[in-house]
Amino acid sequence: MLQALRFEREALFALDQTQLPEREIVLELRSAAEVAEAIKRLSIRGAPMIGVAAGYGVALACLAGEPAADACELLVAARPTAVNLAHAARRVRDVALDGGAAAAVAEAVAIEAEEVAASDASASFGADLLAGVRTVMTHCNTGALAAPGRGCALSVVAELAQRGSLERVTATETRPLLQGARLTVYELARLGIPHELIVDGAAAGLIARGHVEAVIVGCDRVAANGDVANKVGTYGLALAAREAGIPFVVVGPTSTIDRSCDSGSEIEIEERDGSEVRSFRGAATCAVETVCRNPAFDVTPASLITALVTERGVARPVSGETIAALLP
Ligand code: MRU
Repeated sequence: MLQALRFEREALFALDQTQLPEREIVLELRSAAEVAEAIKRLSIRGAPMIGVAAGYGVALACLAGEPAADACELLVAARPTAVNLAHAARRVRDVALDGGAAAAVAEAVAIEAEEVAASDASASFGADLLAGVRTVMTHCNTGALAAPGRGCALSVVAELAQRGSLERVTATETRPLLQGARLTVYELARLGIPHELIVDGAAAGLIARGHVEAVIVGCDRVAANGDVANKVGTYGLALAAREAGIPFVVVGPTSTIDRSCDSGSEIEIEERDGSEVRSFRGAATCAVETVCRNPAFDVTPASLITALVTERGVARPVSGETIAALLP
């Protein structure tokens, strides 16, 4: 199985996702600062994965005799939207305050194990929900690179393929960083799942023409009322799915639910540098002086989401009540 992260010999080894699919380069990260930088530049990405990495980042600081609180602050600041990052970093920090470095490492390992179990359970719930579906569209990358185990939305896709119904996955390229084109296609090819790649602008028209039976995506933060922040472009897919009358399914572990956030309007949306739009891997996409806006995420209202699949079951319809029922 694809392993995006490995904690070993007091270092975090991370497959550099900015280099895929051309180069499989493994980074050796030895401090919280190095982990935070890897998260910022998207060498490590995907909501559950950056949570796990942040947990190990705090543990690395503890092993080096540095204050867990400082490491936690640094890591939480790396990216604002995915709540998993803050949840995991704070969890390891709190354990370290009493138990020291060994307890911090054990907590980070436990968080990773919980996410692997969540991926498996969500895959099964999601495949039950979408039983018999032959064609799906997915956005961004939500597989083993984005979440420990088999991922979130892509774990459901893999499970549907394993159960034998799935005939084709349509992956959006996901501008501006091409997580779909570079990473989802890489994962689907490794899994041997039939797939095709489309430009983001083709998605709504293909959905309207009945090209797919369902849209399935991951999530970076779920507000208490069920609104979902996910990769920019998700909202448009949800609107197209609603108009076409096909299911729009969100998959994510409960570690992505933020009870302190009443609705999607309270979720901070990361604004990334315009240079990611102006060029890609050194090649210009427009005139250098072009002003670019680069929000990394958008918010899809709960009313457009058919179901939220988690390791604790499925919220359907998605509402404050059904979300609360998933939580302990
Ligand atoms: O900016 P990214 O690549 O980290 O964005 C990732 C996404 O939006 C995913 O859909 C989300 O994290 C869920 S993946 C398990």
